[in-house]
Amino acid sequence: MKALTYHSAKDVRVETVPDPIIQDQQDIILRVTATAICGSDLHIYRGKIPQMESGDILGHEFMGIVEEVGAGVTHLKKGDRVVVPFTISCGECFFCNRTLFAACENTNPGRGTILNKKGVRSGAGLFGYSHLYGGYSGGQAEYVRVPKANVGPLVIPHGLKDEQVLFLSDILPTGYQAVVNGKVGPGSSVAIFGAGPVGLMAAASARLLGAEQIFMIDHHPYRLDFAQATYGVVPINFDQVEDPAEFILGQTDFRGVDASIDAVGFEAKGSMLETALTELKLEGSSGKVLRQAIAATRRGGVISVPGVYAGFIHGFLFGDAFEKGLSFATGQTHAQRFMPELLAYILEGKLHPEVIITHHLPLTEAARGYEIFEKRQEDCRKVVLTPAGPV
Ligand SMILES: NC(=O)c1ccc[n+]([C@@H]2O[C@H](COP(=O)([O-])OP(=O)(O)OC[C@H]3O[C@@H](n4cnc5c(N)ncnc54)[C@H](O)[C@@H]3O)[C@@H](O)[C@H]2O)c1
Ligand SMILES: [Zn+2]
Ligand SMILES: [Zn+2]
Repeated sequence: MKALTYHSAKDVRVETVPDPIIQDQQDIILRVTATAICGSDLHIYRGKIPQMESGDILGHEFMGIVEEVGAGVTHLKKGDRVVVPFTISCGECFFCNRTLFAACENTNPGRGTILNKKGVRSGAGLFGYSHLYGGYSGGQAEYVRVPKANVGPLVIPHGLKDEQVLFLSDILPTGYQAVVNGKVGPGSSVAIFGAGPVGLMAAASARLLGAEQIFMIDHHPYRLDFAQATYGVVPINFDQVEDPAEFILGQTDFRGVDASIDAVGFEAKGSMLETALTELKLEGSSGKVLRQAIAATRRGGVISVPGVYAGFIHGFLFGDAFEKGLSFATGQTHAQRFMPELLAYILEGKLHPEVIITHHLPLTEAARGYEIFEKRQEDCRKVVLTPAGPV
């Protein structure tokens, strides 16, 4: 089959690789009909994620048709059309029983990324996301093996197009979890840092849940313009407004917003020092957005962090967070927990995640898709790849 494989930073290729086969009774083999490139894939593409091996198949946002089922698969049958969550979860461990699916203790034989790990078991394995997360082959491919198929894949009813439901695999539940964790509700004010796909899904979710005032911070005018037109956000371009937190305070009676959402993560731009230190591996992550979020949030508010972080941040300003009594909510998304309710919203016409898509490419052009998305060319917001060619 054809699949998008990683070789080194900025070197990904569509190659012919062996077809996946059933390895466990709870596996299915999925024929992929649509798959997307995530901002998390860009961390890999830029060579920032360790334990990637040459030839690893990328991709954790995908859907398709069940081709083959293992003997222990009871919830699916050949021919079902499903969206697959990016976290692989067993459904029966301590954490899965608490619907903390991203913390599943049984699916990641890899190390995970906790530095001070002691005896703690790794969280869930992820599709196409390095050997730290289990070394599972991803779904930017014609076929993919999906383990624990009784727990993850969600059957999609007839009448919906792939692109309407594809983002249930990751960015839609991620934006939604970020907003739910931020306790956003009717009348809330919220600042969303990052107008990429995750920030946009957070804006859509904040509107859905009744937020009144949404500030959105980025420096790509085309992304901010789209967010303003689609979700009614107040755009803040940090190339023009030097201190977005100060601007937000001025708009909120010098209290700050109820919640800030960091949809940027460890590669945040804006601190030359931290960018240089992270390049030298003296710093794990840039703390630029976290500092801005702490400054922009009102006393007793919430900082919700879907953006990915790793290792140390020396300039974290935890004292300010303490003084303001802030709460933090972070982590990989428990996608399985939110997928059914989000599908219901899509069926009711209350969510239209597909509107953010700018690029439809055949899988064979996936390498170009990565380049366009990474360089923010052609006003790219989101790339969808179709193994069978254009739809
Ligand atoms: N928690 C999860 O389960 C989960 C799931 C999906 C993605 N993610 C993470 O979410 C983050 C965003 O993903 P995406 O797909 O939207 O990626 P993206 O790279 O397309 O978007 C990030 C945006 O942040 C902006 N940005 C950079 N520095 C900034 C700053 N200082 N202030 C404000 N904006 C800034 C960039 O210009 C860009 O538009 C990534 O870190 C990704 O790994 C996490
Ligand atoms: Zn992702
Ligand atoms: Zn589990």
